[in-house]
Amino acid sequence: MADFVSGFWNMYVMGLVGLSLLFCLFVLMSNNKRETGPVELHGHVWDENLAEYNNPLPRWWLYLFWGTLVFSAVYLVIYPGFGNKKGVLGWSSAGQYAAEMKAAEERYAPLFDKYKGMEIPAVAADPEARAAGKRLFVTYCAQCHGSDAHGAKGFPNLTDKVWNWGGDPATIKTTITGGRMAMMPAFGPILGAEGVKDVANYVRSLSGLAHDSLRAQRGAELFQQNCVACHGPEAKGTPAMGAPNLTDEDWLYASNEATVIETITKGRTNRMPGFGEFLGEAKVHLLASYVYSLSNNTTK
Ligand code: HEC
Ligand code: HEC
Repeated sequence: MADFVSGFWNMYVMGLVGLSLLFCLFVLMSNNKRETGPVELHGHVWDENLAEYNNPLPRWWLYLFWGTLVFSAVYLVIYPGFGNKKGVLGWSSAGQYAAEMKAAEERYAPLFDKYKGMEIPAVAADPEARAAGKRLFVTYCAQCHGSDAHGAKGFPNLTDKVWNWGGDPATIKTTITGGRMAMMPAFGPILGAEGVKDVANYVRSLSGLAHDSLRAQRGAELFQQNCVACHGPEAKGTPAMGAPNLTDEDWLYASNEATVIETITKGRTNRMPGFGEFLGEAKVHLLASYVYSLSNNTTK
């Protein structure tokens, strides 16, 4: 209600609400007749002899209507609803939400703080901490990485030993805190369709996939000229740049020739959002511990 720029709409809403209530009151009053004389008939007749009396509403029914009127008046005094009036209780859904959040913060902060002071592998070994971390993960991370953290095309699997940026505790925490931006440039314009196909065959040969060996030979040269700055001379990747190892069986996209060609031709831009500011260090610490536990056997 406070969002209206002019007071007119408040008055309009209040007027409508007031008039509706008055109208209900009027209808009730005008029907509030007790039967005095003999009951008349409506004059409608069905099935030859079935006639209808013109009786007033039963009392209990009428009282229900009075009850609703009283209820709405009391409600509008206590709660917001009458134009921009806030109601005597000062209740608002935003206020209730803030109060619940504050209560939860007070309840869980000591727990989070306890874990924040511990090393990540130690937190990861604590079943209660893992359970709390999993709840956070399902809330904030599952939409991209999957609730089982197995990932999807373009979203890394966090349960294996393959890391683009690094899987040691500190690096995982840095990734979650600040996010990551992976940039694989487009090589289509530089290498041309044939060149891309050659280098794609070379890339596939690195992990033992079917390839044309002549193309792979030419591709190896192109790779040394264009790709080693990021993927390294042995194509084993550079974690500092998030450039993946191209010699293993793990693929962020897919290993088929068409997808590899697409990656090299168009490049890839991939972003992991940062959560440090949004969640605060204690929750990020717990999340990092949970992620660490997924690929390290901490459940001793
Ligand atoms: C909007 C989608 C999205 C959300 C939400 C998201 N991530 Fe990510 N995450 C990504 C993408 C995309 C990458 C891969 C970035 C790249 O290509 O290097 C990634 C990468 C990572 C990595 C690095 C993996 C590696 O191989 O080094 C970790 C760790 C990670 N995410 C953890 C998390 C956690 C924990 C959360 C929840 C707090 C989360 N992510 C939420 C999209 C997301
Ligand atoms: C500027 C650095 C850079 C250069 C140069 C570069 N890449 Fe990449 N490459 C990346 C990054 C970063 C990613 C990860 C993209 C992502 O996370 O989405 C990547 C991803 C890939 C992938 C996908 C791997 C997968 O798991 O699906 C392939 C294939 C690839 N690069 C091949 C090449 C080839 C071939 C060249 C040379 C023609 C090349 N790259 C040059 C940075 C680079």
